[in-house]
Amino acid sequence: MKINVLFTPVIADDLYFTGKTTVVIDVLRASSTIVAALQNGAKEIVPVGTVEFAVKVSGGMFGGQTLIGGERNTKKIEGFALGNSPLEYTEDVVARKSIIFYTTNGTKAIVKAKFSAGLFICAFNNISAVAKHLAMLDNDFEIQCAGRSNNFSMEDTICAGKLISEIEKIKTDLSLSDSAKASVALSKSFGRSIYKMLSETEHGKQLLENGFDDDIKFCSKLNISEIVPYFIGNVLKLLPENGLSLTNEKDNIAN
Ligand code: MLT
Repeated sequence: MKINVLFTPVIADDLYFTGKTTVVIDVLRASSTIVAALQNGAKEIVPVGTVEFAVKVSGGMFGGQTLIGGERNTKKIEGFALGNSPLEYTEDVVARKSIIFYTTNGTKAIVKAKFSAGLFICAFNNISAVAKHLAMLDNDFEIQCAGRSNNFSMEDTICAGKLISEIEKIKTDLSLSDSAKASVALSKSFGRSIYKMLSETEHGKQLLENGFDDDIKFCSKLNISEIVPYFIGNVLKLLPENGLSLTNEKDNIAN
């Protein structure tokens, strides 16, 4: 099982992902928010690469059952129902809703990897569930770090390293690229207190300045969710074995 880590989205173009298994990580905060929304019963998340497209897509969806969420420079976008705080995506707000979702780096990285044969979303919050699923699939895979403005991001790389270490607990036949080995080394050096590490990163400091300390605390929690979001038909849903999605599928049929 070969594992490679792409530190930023500029390393590969869209076609690079064709037919591959890919995991996208944007710990602060897009991947953590996606996990929270699906965990709390959202029907699906529609990741989009531009604000304009978010508005256009939402216009074609049924009123009341669709919300637009996301951020620009960490702040909620005017006219959007939700920002990009995982704490906003509570069951009361998101259950059974389709959420059109735009974020500065995270959703762009997901859209870029759309040609993958299997595309999954990982955060610290669901890292063990993703590790178990990848070990079960037993495919070579790529980890796409969303990064920050096409630059390296410490938190995404450390999460990638930790994901690899989790898989190493289950499987012994891993072959790591140099970037994968570097991610594991970084996660062993800096990943002991995830909250401290996150709050000292460039993006963590920006979030703190903008009053999002509670989000950093939430994003630092390990394994509070057992769900694995996956990309199918241009939307993110729960893997079928994550029970809730079966409920949602039944709802689709009933509607
Ligand atoms: C992003 O996609 O850049 C982020 O999730 C930014 C954030 O809201 O913290």
